[in-house]
Amino acid sequence: MQKNYKRTLITAALPYANGPVHIGHLAGVYIPADIYARYLRLKGQEVLFVCGSDEHGVPIAIRAQKEGVTPQDIVDRYHTIIRDSFARFGMTFDIYSRTTSPTHREHASAFFRTLYDKGAFIEEETEQYYDPEARQFLADRYIVGTCPRCQNEHAYGDQCESCGSTLNPTDLIHPHSAISGATPILKKTKHWYLPLDQYEPFLREWILEQHKEWKSNVYGQCRSWLDGGLQPRAVSRDLDWGIPVPVEGAEGKVLYVWFDAPIGYISNTKELLPDSWETWWKDEDTRLLHFIGKDNIVFHCIVFPAMLRAEGSYILPENVPANEFLNLEGNKISTSRNWAVWLNEYLDELPDKQDVLRYVLTANAPETKDNDFTWKDYQARNNNELVAVFGNFVNRALVLTSKYFDGHVPALGSLTDLDRETLSELSSVRGAIERELDSFHFREALKEAMNLARLGNKYLADTEPWKLAKTDLPRVATILNISLQITANLTIAFAPFLPMSSERLCQMLLIDLPSWDDLGRADLLPVGHTLGEPHLLFEKIEDEVIEAQVQKLLETKAQNEAAEAKTPPVADPIAFEDFQKLDIRVGTVLECTKVPKADKLLQFRLDDGLGGRTIISGLAEHYAPEELVGKQVCFIANLPPRKLRGIESEGMILSALDAETGRLRVITPEQGVTPGSEVK
Ligand code: MF3
Ligand code: ZN
Repeated sequence: MQKNYKRTLITAALPYANGPVHIGHLAGVYIPADIYARYLRLKGQEVLFVCGSDEHGVPIAIRAQKEGVTPQDIVDRYHTIIRDSFARFGMTFDIYSRTTSPTHREHASAFFRTLYDKGAFIEEETEQYYDPEARQFLADRYIVGTCPRCQNEHAYGDQCESCGSTLNPTDLIHPHSAISGATPILKKTKHWYLPLDQYEPFLREWILEQHKEWKSNVYGQCRSWLDGGLQPRAVSRDLDWGIPVPVEGAEGKVLYVWFDAPIGYISNTKELLPDSWETWWKDEDTRLLHFIGKDNIVFHCIVFPAMLRAEGSYILPENVPANEFLNLEGNKISTSRNWAVWLNEYLDELPDKQDVLRYVLTANAPETKDNDFTWKDYQARNNNELVAVFGNFVNRALVLTSKYFDGHVPALGSLTDLDRETLSELSSVRGAIERELDSFHFREALKEAMNLARLGNKYLADTEPWKLAKTDLPRVATILNISLQITANLTIAFAPFLPMSSERLCQMLLIDLPSWDDLGRADLLPVGHTLGEPHLLFEKIEDEVIEAQVQKLLETKAQNEAAEAKTPPVADPIAFEDFQKLDIRVGTVLECTKVPKADKLLQFRLDDGLGGRTIISGLAEHYAPEELVGKQVCFIANLPPRKLRGIESEGMILSALDAETGRLRVITPEQGVTPGSEVK
């Protein structure tokens, strides 16, 4: 369905205000949305780009409770961090607001009320868990108990994080409230449901028939939801954080966060343009695009369109270019495990490298499948592509011009075949980039822009103007004219992708950014035009910088592993006689050495008061051998001997496994005792 729209409204998923934004969000949603918005603006189109923080929902309420602050405190903190880091990163939102704004509260409430008054909801009473002590209904996340599948005692009412199973609160063994610890009781509660099943025929026609051009990952997910059959969805929750349900008798109930959040796109438009927001949301000549990550597809392609349709006066999205996920160094990005590169920290630790991150995340964007970010790849793309190709070409063109023509654009002479081919390739760049951007293939589009820099680099390598200066200055003039025209074109080609570098390049060329439609022209710089000072456009990133980032991740990993080593529950009871069977003694370490070719093993020679014995123990990662010589240790004296790496081990040395750090510490009597003494 190609239509000539008058304007484009671009939305980017509202990030939850319970943590900063990370590279996964940037690669999947914000960078492509910003590239697209910049691209359309450069083409002179009318664009509105809307975003804001998503500030309701259970995780924010739980977080606040854990920290002993209010949910408002939490969202204030993260809204500020997110908003500021987006601004420093160069996001060109026309508005970045929040779902706790008065405009949103009013608008979302009115939206619900309109649907309610139209009879668009089903009202239903169900039984749900209620905390009799805290006197409130419990969201699934607030109920903790034993997982019926893996016996993990800390499973949540919606999921067991230990075995990954999806659960219902009633599946839990020994459920208890995370708020008071009380055993929850089932109690009747009323909620409002959007009967998605009724919208199924409409959604099938609208998506499966009329939007076959949507990206295959998006279209496929929609089809599988629709084929699975749609169920009514609750749009309210028993919770005290959110927008109150504007209906009598709904005390203690708020709008479900996924009901209010997408309405935030509308409210934020209304906050920015109180008089003309409806043009952007209700006029058929507006093209609406939602940029999101794959976990948001069902809400933007099925639930929100059904809501808009139920309301009746709104347009529907024309496309929803959702991306897959970005992993970090081989592992899933996780806010709770701190496994991420956070935008705010990136901006502090690698100042003025916004465009490098934009480049790497676009070149490696998870457009069709999950992708992996590694710091090594980040460094390689910077050094081998931005520095060695783009930066190097620009620098050579400018430095040579300054050397041979005093920084003035020289005149074009007669053209060789190579010149003509090069100019013809230059003229095809705009079409190539547009084709990719128009179909939301951002990595391919970036590749086309980069190909222009490659073209320039190759042209200089093939023509070698520095060798001709003495013999044929007019030829050098032609080569540099062409090189400078390519350089000027790079400012436009890269403007949507690397806006800060494009701007710096304009400053070096002493030009204003040409318009998008000028891309491909070989006369952007008039003969005689004075150029500015050449500076390096990109800097090489050294190994130390990368190693510091990798080290930071390794520390996170160690902390996570330690936290997961957790204190295990007390084991099943044993008979006293069983305990008495153990013969535990104290010995003094006479010698201690590493077992060759075994990373974990130490070999001990103990004075055990019984003529001495050898014990092999897995302590090599926890102690240097010399630290243990002369120490007293406890060991089990009556185990049968066992051969390890060809050495006979006569017992076991006892040590404590630190529940925090995961380190082993040997057990030592508080004062020296005679070797061979029993431990009772
Ligand atoms: N906060 C959600 C997330 O991060 C996205 C909300 S998008 C909106 O997954 F449409 F609901 F606003
Ligand atoms: Zn489990």
